[in-house]
Amino acid sequence: MRSGTGAAAAASTQDPVGIQDPVVTKDPVVIVGSGHSGVAVAAGLRTRGWEGNILLIDAENELPYERPPLSKEFLKDGAPDEPAVLRKEKFYADKGIGRLAGVTAESIDRNGRTVLLSNGTRQAYHRLVIATGSRARPLTVPGAGLAGVRSLRTRGDALELRRLLVPGSRVAIIGAGYIGLEVAAAAAAKGCEVTVLEFQDRVMSRVTSAPVSRHFEQLHERNGVRFVFGAAVTSIDGGQRAERVTVADGTVFPADVVLAGIGVIPNQELAARAGIDCRDGILVDGDGRTSDPAIYASGDVTRFTSPIDNASQRLECIQNALAQADRVAAHIAGQTAAEPEIPWFWTVQHGIRLQTAGVRHPEDRVIVRGEPSGGKFSVVYLRDGRLAAVDTIANLSDFRTAKRLIGQGARIDPLLAADPRVPLAEAISGATNHSHADLTAARS
Ligand code: NAI
Repeated sequence: MRSGTGAAAAASTQDPVGIQDPVVTKDPVVIVGSGHSGVAVAAGLRTRGWEGNILLIDAENELPYERPPLSKEFLKDGAPDEPAVLRKEKFYADKGIGRLAGVTAESIDRNGRTVLLSNGTRQAYHRLVIATGSRARPLTVPGAGLAGVRSLRTRGDALELRRLLVPGSRVAIIGAGYIGLEVAAAAAAKGCEVTVLEFQDRVMSRVTSAPVSRHFEQLHERNGVRFVFGAAVTSIDGGQRAERVTVADGTVFPADVVLAGIGVIPNQELAARAGIDCRDGILVDGDGRTSDPAIYASGDVTRFTSPIDNASQRLECIQNALAQADRVAAHIAGQTAAEPEIPWFWTVQHGIRLQTAGVRHPEDRVIVRGEPSGGKFSVVYLRDGRLAAVDTIANLSDFRTAKRLIGQGARIDPLLAADPRVPLAEAISGATNHSHADLTAARS
């Protein structure tokens, strides 16, 4: 295995993937995409002692920045125009991490191990990491191209949206997922008239259960947000700009601003065109390797088998972006990655924070802990009697405990779990608990 102590050492040792690599001292680890995951791979390689060249290539022409605030505090009037950067300029210089900004990777020559860039140059790589993330799913209805119809992914998108959200403006939000709801909260706080048009019969149906959806619907409604469920948008109409949104039953909603938050599509085309296995995401193994052993992928763009329950999944969260980046960096450096962490997620809407640990499946048994109307409660998800996930509202203790218990594969007594007076850690049923490693071994 590669020692991870630099290019010179790497050149003289056995390559971890069995590839002859005569130009390893010259060719860098090339990382395509400078979101959380791409930057974390670069930083992680240095932390792990990798001394070879590293080059980050990114389509956006600015220092890599934090995306979570873009749908929250960044939309407030008077917020700084620049979101917090992931790393200061000096970091990249100090760590010897090269950056090519405003440049896209167009194609990969896997045999020659080069990437063709949009600036016409060809960049050789020793290892390639695809961390291209995902893009907003585009609205395809007639009128989707009118001025005033927006999606939200980049700083530029958020700046434009901030400008459009003025008091009294009528805002139609299509999709009641994380983006739609966070923007609904920001828009309502700015005095906009907000209507959310959601295809399903409740909010956040992709990620949570009905009790949590209901809680957040009521929260939004108390803050003036209107919901229309079962709404299939058929067109957006107007002159120069969007003026109204029509749904399938013919109802028309006047709108000055239309925001589509209808999910994301993984940016897998670069890999797919190169013949790398993809299936709604670039397929990677536990080390982040694609079907080409010299090419890794990391973050939102990947699909992988959960080490927790063997489910095939694509996770859209920062925790996964960072955890996968660590595994990729470790593998390239010939080192062992940290134990997989339980995925976790959070959102803030009207000042209320929903924190989720684990990945719920729709068929999980749902147990509500506490009284939602009291503002502090959790929803526990059991799969085959084991704690699989938890949603917590104003309950950091349950969140932390659940993360640990999910990691242990803890069996939970449903009656005890339903009683908020019983600490979650004491709701473990008598049966022996197993580690995830045991569970994975037993199930495979
Ligand atoms: P999402 O998948 O969370 O929600 C999309 C919603 O749109 C779903 O409720 C779906 O039923 C609905 N929908 C889809 N097509 C529709 C249609 N034609 N008409 C009406 N409704 C439709 O995706 P979202 O909110 O766009 O978020 C995009 C990405 O940003 C995700 O990866 C998300 O995880 C991430 N994000 C995460 C945040 C967080 O973790 N707090 C905050 C903001 C974004």
